Amino acid sequence: MTKGAIIVGASSGIGEALARELAENGYEIGLTARRTERLKRIGSELPTKAYVATMDVTEPEAAREGFFELAAAMPSVDLVVISAGVAELNDDLEWEPERQTIDVNVRGFTAIATAAMEHFERNADDGSGADGHLVGISSIAAHFGLGGAQAYNASKAYVSRYLQGLRHRQQDRDATVRITTIEPGFVDTDLSIGGFWECSPETAATQIARAIRKERDHAYVTRRWRLVAWGLELFPESILRRVLP
Ligand SMILES: NC(=O)c1ccc[n+]([C@@H]2O[C@H](COP(=O)([O-])OP(=O)(O)OC[C@H]3O[C@@H](n4cnc5c(N)ncnc54)[C@H](OP(=O)(O)O)[C@@H]3O)[C@@H](O)[C@H]2O)c1
Repeated sequence: MTKGAIIVGASSGIGEALARELAENGYEIGLTARRTERLKRIGSELPTKAYVATMDVTEPEAAREGFFELAAAMPSVDLVVISAGVAELNDDLEWEPERQTIDVNVRGFTAIATAAMEHFERNADDGSGADGHLVGISSIAAHFGLGGAQAYNASKAYVSRYLQGLRHRQQDRDATVRITTIEPGFVDTDLSIGGFWECSPETAATQIARAIRKERDHAYVTRRWRLVAWGLELFPESILRRVLP
């Protein structure tokens, strides 16, 4: 049976590249985000069947409802990837950018993560034997607090810890749902502030698809970013404060 994947945040960047990569691997794709015309165009260019649903994750109730409707419209949903995210530098600590970051990256993420788990667990309870796979796009930013990006980095720490919690929760569940945390470094998208070791969204998508195939708990993208993560965990905050930009 053809596999299906829903990608939340599929209208650009990593989500778009991953939609193309997974479709090349034979997945039917449910594409969601706010920019409907972009989703339709991307969907029309995929080699497999595409399903488009407009979704704003800052409206969590409607987003969850939209998620369930999209899942019901697809023959099978084996994989859900939450790539939707925003990042805005906010040195002046204005409330609006901080609120927006929390709304999308924390509330929106959790609204869809819980809906995806509900979908997978409900299907498994039906005796269909269907497993599910939830993938969250966190960030290397999860490993430290950075002035100006305090809300973004904190939101990604939330995503990484939340997914870790879901993996732990899976241990005594009947349903077998794989949970994968992706922590990219710099990826060349509209969201990126750019920097060293920046990779293309296509390279990121290839590496994320590999982590999905191998059912990894966790993957850095690109893999060399694990060195940075280790350094960030190793050095005391007082030193990091001095060396980070
Ligand atoms: N680029 C990097 O260097 C980098 C590094 C580490 C982690 N990441 C993470 O990777 C993920 C994807 O980002 P990207 O780099 O690919 O940037 P991007 O091209 O800006 O993609 C962000 C995606 O999120 C969607 N989105 C934003 N707000 C939304 C909302 N309210 N409701 C639904 N969808 C929404 C956007 O679609 P619409 O605007 O159409 O809604 C878009 O599809 C993010 O979670 C980001 O934190 C990126």
